[in-house]
Amino acid sequence: MRLLLGLLAATCLATPALAATVASPDGTIVVELDTDGEGIPFYSVTRDGKPVIAKSNLGFNFTDADPMRRNFEVTNESTNAVDTRWEQPWGERQWVADKHNELAVTFRQRDEAARTVTVRLRVFDDGIGFRYELPESAAQPEYRIAEELTEFNIASDGTAWSIPAGDWNRYEYLYSKTPISALSTVHTPVTMKLEGGTYLAFHEAALIDYSGMWLKRMDGTRLRALLSPSSRGAKVVRKGAFNTPWRTVRIGDEPASLVESDIDLNLNEPNKLGDVSWFEPAKYVGIWWGMIRGDWSWAQGENHGATTAHAKKVIDFAAKHGFRGVLVEGWNVGWDGNWFGNGRDYSFTQSYPDFDLKEVTDYARQKGVRLVGHHETGGNIQVYEAQLADAMKLYGELGVDVVKTGYVADAGGVISCNADIADPCGEEIFEWHDGQRQVQHHLKVVQEAAKNRVAVNPHEPVKDTGLRRTYPNWVAREGARGMEYNAWSKYGNGPDHEPTLVYTRMLSGPMDFTPGVLGLVGDNDQPFSSTLAKQLGLYLAIYSPIQMAADFPESLEAHPRELEFIKQVPADWAESHLIAGEIGDYAIFARKDRNSDDWYVGGVNDATDRTVTLTFDFLEPGKTFTARVWKDGPDATYETEARHQIAYDTVTVKKGDSYEVRLAPGGGVAIQLKPGK
Ligand code: NOJ
Ligand code: CA
Repeated sequence: MRLLLGLLAATCLATPALAATVASPDGTIVVELDTDGEGIPFYSVTRDGKPVIAKSNLGFNFTDADPMRRNFEVTNESTNAVDTRWEQPWGERQWVADKHNELAVTFRQRDEAARTVTVRLRVFDDGIGFRYELPESAAQPEYRIAEELTEFNIASDGTAWSIPAGDWNRYEYLYSKTPISALSTVHTPVTMKLEGGTYLAFHEAALIDYSGMWLKRMDGTRLRALLSPSSRGAKVVRKGAFNTPWRTVRIGDEPASLVESDIDLNLNEPNKLGDVSWFEPAKYVGIWWGMIRGDWSWAQGENHGATTAHAKKVIDFAAKHGFRGVLVEGWNVGWDGNWFGNGRDYSFTQSYPDFDLKEVTDYARQKGVRLVGHHETGGNIQVYEAQLADAMKLYGELGVDVVKTGYVADAGGVISCNADIADPCGEEIFEWHDGQRQVQHHLKVVQEAAKNRVAVNPHEPVKDTGLRRTYPNWVAREGARGMEYNAWSKYGNGPDHEPTLVYTRMLSGPMDFTPGVLGLVGDNDQPFSSTLAKQLGLYLAIYSPIQMAADFPESLEAHPRELEFIKQVPADWAESHLIAGEIGDYAIFARKDRNSDDWYVGGVNDATDRTVTLTFDFLEPGKTFTARVWKDGPDATYETEARHQIAYDTVTVKKGDSYEVRLAPGGGVAIQLKPGK
């Protein structure tokens, strides 16, 4: 049934004064779309009758054509309503509900060129998404976008959690908590709590062949899209008809409404790859933490981490404990010298002499283990693209079915071919990690990988915009400060980082955070801002279908009870619920295994010593579960050696029971629930 409110009847379309509005299926969110007295297209959003986004303008500036900004009239409107669900091949939940009302409004400029643009709007019970659809146009056969003028004029002030956009370290920043009215230019997702208590998160969905959207505060609480730059001048160049990514706003009364919203996935196209059952959600170990800490090197020499002998040892460890994957970094030619300089020397098919790729992959396969491949590009996508087909084919042939890619270069330092000239790769140009060129590149890699049944996990990536629905071999990515920052300085990520990531970065999709460093020390034995229990809680707090146990094998084995949890915790879920938490403070999830009746509960805490009461409301009625608990010890705190203190408990629980647990400063908790006593 259509629940569209106040929609213009077709016969009165010429009446510009009437607004078109559309409501969410439950009627709480209402969006208005119209033109104002100057013919500027705009939208506004209310929830329960109260303004959430005040009048916000829409439009474009171009490098070579008049702006699409003023002097528009509405020429057409259409509506639709959807109530369906679809199945994920893997993910936080098996089934995703898609229930929304849609309104599409076409605006035409009142001048000789009479260019048109359609704004398609979808309103869900937990937020909205809209995009521009630009048609094939004789007046403008190529769209060269200088800026997208979309505004988000937030109706009141409040608190925002954000990271800066346009700075050198891409997305790898600690989050700042500031008034909305003090934001500068930020990445999305950006999360907010308005003064009236409403929670909001701004992001985008289906970022394809376009430039990533940053948000710039113009004045007060009015934000505007700022597209990631390009050294080609125009930020986006498109020929013929095309659609922009969806601009999305999650809206709710609770942090859980943001965390559990599937708006961005729903706004992506369905799976284009068909059966991807060859990708197995799984956990992996690797030749990695030793390099990050500085014990081993990626480059050749006596500390070279990726030797055949070392790889076999780690494969033996993986086989013994049932880890499917072994990541090997630094196996290929090109890491010597200043490896993060320019990526010119990388070969993605040639191994270093002390590493025999075929011997290692054969050895792994015999033991039921797969290598996790690695392609560091140094941000040089010209060099990588030239070898891409061969590199993916090689991995495909050897049964390496996940590859971690990397783009270590300062923001603005991606080296690309110049598509504006006849011999594009004859000239190097510099691009951004989230500009149109790099967005094209990532999809090219994902598609080439899919042809060879390889899944992709980029580090220094472009942000996730839900494309895993369309390309389910795009399984994870970094795109935030991960575990590695704990190796590089004392308390590297700070205790608040992970309980902030849950409500910000994680709204966009899976993260290869690389948890499970049970030793709790980085380079020079610098301590983490984490207790031992938090390392386990991370497996519930930060979702990825490929989860690393990042520590050295010896350190993992030195903690047999914790290793036991890591071995058992799944990487694929039938359901996921945030059962307790506040942004930046703490976050506890309940997740049901996709392949058994087991549930897992756990999460992470900030620097505050707190006691939480967990209620097992999510369990099936009438069933008893045995709960094994890994929790912070009575004196545990990240600030002293007591960060290693952990306590265990076993209790019997059923639906409605509760369990009180202390979360230490920098602490966490992990619980496994198995049916039966
Ligand atoms: C940075 C990545 O985040 C890290 O995981 C990787 O080991 C290095 N780059 C080298 O590729
Ligand atoms: Ca990184």
